[in-house]
Amino acid sequence: MRMVDLIAKKRDGGELSTAEIQFLVNGYTDGSIPDYQMSAWAMAVFFRGMTARETADLTMAMAGSGEQLDLSGLPGVKVDKHSTGGVGDKTTLVVAPLVAAAGIPVAKMSGRGLGYSGGTIDKLESFQGFQVERSREQFMQQVRELGVAVIGQSGNLTPADKKLYALRDVTATVEAIPLIASSIMSKKIAAGADAILLDVKVGKGAFMKNLEEAERLARAMVDIGKQVGRKTVAVISDMNQPLGFAVGNSLEVQEAIHTLAGKGPADLTRLVLEIGARMLVLGELVPDVEAGRARLEELIASGKAVDKLAAMVEAQGGDRQAVYDPGRLPQARLSHPLTASTAGFLSEIDAEAVGRASVVLGAGRMTKEMPIDLAVGIVLHKKQGDAVQAGETVATLYANQEAALQAALQELEGAFSVASHQPEPTTLIYRIVE
Ligand code: URA
Repeated sequence: MRMVDLIAKKRDGGELSTAEIQFLVNGYTDGSIPDYQMSAWAMAVFFRGMTARETADLTMAMAGSGEQLDLSGLPGVKVDKHSTGGVGDKTTLVVAPLVAAAGIPVAKMSGRGLGYSGGTIDKLESFQGFQVERSREQFMQQVRELGVAVIGQSGNLTPADKKLYALRDVTATVEAIPLIASSIMSKKIAAGADAILLDVKVGKGAFMKNLEEAERLARAMVDIGKQVGRKTVAVISDMNQPLGFAVGNSLEVQEAIHTLAGKGPADLTRLVLEIGARMLVLGELVPDVEAGRARLEELIASGKAVDKLAAMVEAQGGDRQAVYDPGRLPQARLSHPLTASTAGFLSEIDAEAVGRASVVLGAGRMTKEMPIDLAVGIVLHKKQGDAVQAGETVATLYANQEAALQAALQELEGAFSVASHQPEPTTLIYRIVE
């Protein structure tokens, strides 16, 4: 087999066989296929697309390109959750302990944030002492004993995807649906998932800017799941405005704790219940979403959900007391209110601008090596559709550096729009693809 023939075949709209896709992934992983040939192939895919079968083959070849986590020693259906990322998206912090409290084993590997999308692992480090690096044995033992562990990505999982994603980033080929879908699904499969719940974000603060694209991506991933025998459901949810009120690591942890205790924002609570309930269905614990939701509401009301988070924090070496006394989490030195200049209704809160401002404050990183400040961020006081008075605070900025605070205020100029009449109600969940 020659790579040049596979590039030509895709360029001319042909369909690659399973063996050809395996050859291409193996060759790229071991270095026998160079970047320039792989880039040409990725560009051909960008224009020609891939069939569902080809996409599933690419997914499985990438999933098998390195180490794979074997979770078969853990009882029950292992359901993983993935979000395509957004501003203020702390869903995993709530969902992981919540579904674990219901009896779904959660053995989760999460990432760090990059750009204005935060990462669960950074957020968890807000608990003093929290260990995100665990050996495989420690990780499995914690899930066996406690039902939940959330750690950083470790080991040589999906090296083919790592290489290809980095190549796509510099060859203008990230935005190809089959490549995105196989990239995400390969990582979930290598991490041992039996079933997968995807939260596909759509809107200003998301990777997918419109509903049509988000639906195509969701459909492509659900189709992969079907082809490779992993039950997959996608929830398409809004990311035009930030999720919940808090944006920034320890601020989001506090909001996640409130949500686990039944006192969280309406949108976050609703999304968490929707995602969590569907995970219980995928895990075959309940017959339907309604029963799942009821079960999760009970766990929140009884305090078992918040206790599960505390137990997980303790098991990973973190300050468990901070779950019950969030004043122990990192706190910023400075705070500054952002006020509305006119009265009316908030017609828009630009999630991307809020995300950018949070990065300027130090809550996110622009390059992988950048350190972040766990204490800083932004807390909204209002959401889209809420009434505001002139001079009323719409958000509070938390900072540790005066210069960063001023720069963040500049980023937020124009991010909050006020209209004279109440806008149409916002949508939180657009579609479920299954
Ligand atoms: N996220 C991924 O993990 N892969 C992509 O290709 C795009 C987004």
